[in-house]
Amino acid sequence: MRVLRLSARDFRCYREARLDLGDRLTVLTGPNGAGKTNLIEALYFGCTGRSCRTVNEREVVRFGQQATRVTVTASDLDGLHELSVGFAPGQPKRMRVDGADVERLLDVERRPLVSVFLPERLELVKGAPAVRRAHLDQFVAARWPARAATRRSYAQALAQRNALLARVRSGGSGRGSLATWDLALARVAIDLMADRRAAVSELTEPFSRWCGLLGLDREPRIAYRPRSHAASPDELAAELAERLDSDLERGFTGHGPHRDELTLTREGRDLRAYGSQGQQRLALLSLLLAERDVLAARRSGPPLLLLDDVMSELDARRRAALVANLRSRPGQAVITTTDPEHVPFVGEHDIVQVAVADGSVLAGAAA
Ligand SMILES: Nc1ncnc2c1ncn2[C@@H]1O[C@H](COP(=O)(O)OP(=O)(O)OP(=O)(O)O)[C@@H](O)[C@H]1O
Ligand SMILES: [Mg+2]
Repeated sequence: MRVLRLSARDFRCYREARLDLGDRLTVLTGPNGAGKTNLIEALYFGCTGRSCRTVNEREVVRFGQQATRVTVTASDLDGLHELSVGFAPGQPKRMRVDGADVERLLDVERRPLVSVFLPERLELVKGAPAVRRAHLDQFVAARWPARAATRRSYAQALAQRNALLARVRSGGSGRGSLATWDLALARVAIDLMADRRAAVSELTEPFSRWCGLLGLDREPRIAYRPRSHAASPDELAAELAERLDSDLERGFTGHGPHRDELTLTREGRDLRAYGSQGQQRLALLSLLLAERDVLAARRSGPPLLLLDDVMSELDARRRAALVANLRSRPGQAVITTTDPEHVPFVGEHDIVQVAVADGSVLAGAAA
């Protein structure tokens, strides 16, 4: 699915904003504070119904206003589609696809997929394992929409087991009551681990390839490190039973896929601990680009890639490699920069350049 246009009203610093995207690369340029990141956020908001910057969504409504509205126009083989998100703090969000109300945009099969790089997303490389697990599960959901429910079922089953642990601790239930739960939990856990393993195995080759293309050397690898190596629900249930005493002591379940790790390494060393800022950035970019390659085969096509402020910490050679590769592959990308000089080839006809200043989108002419 191709994103043609963004329209936003009273979103962040914009009273009205309209942005036409190019087929491949669109470059947003403007000084600090001009409103570039706000446009990236508006695109994400319009495609997903969520902010990629904040959990406190009232921040996105323009100062002094009651509500915001973002509309995204996209096209696929069936024609044009319109997604819109209306939001007034304190009220339920109104999301529509082609005029019909929807509960959650993320559950809509026909929507443009979107993948975002923000400087704060380096947390994905630097932060706690939970951030990477959540990201991996989101990729699983984008890759195989029908499997999105597995993660939710696991979270529910785990919460129930933890509640039951608390009851056994307080004497309200006997230890035996856990056995049936353990097997139910183990069944979903095995499915979840299989999904994660399959996802990472698809990402392995493109991740290494993108690292090579972007100049991240010394054998960069992505790997799935499950906490349990059980091959069947029965084996996992047995592992849980073995650990019941320590679980009861701690009051929560200490074993299972909620403790899995997704590692990003160079020469076997964790980038999380040993990577430089630039290397962590390249690893994150390579991961997002690898995911995009894998998803490109899907009906919805490669996700729209939003790259906020990605150029500032890359050297000239790596900038050129990134832009050359984005230009040569199908799929749309938006890059923000304070300095157009940082985007190699920016004057070429296939790159749409848009100037942003003081909360206005000034020009968006495709050559
Ligand atoms: N809810 C809001 N209403 C009005 N203005 C806002 C709101 N939220 C943020 N702003 C303003 O939007 C302006 C632009 O922010 P934005 O982050 O998009 O800039 P930018 O072009 O990405 O800058 P930089 O190059 O420094 O990253 C800031 O001056 C900020 O104060
Ligand atoms: Mg910015």
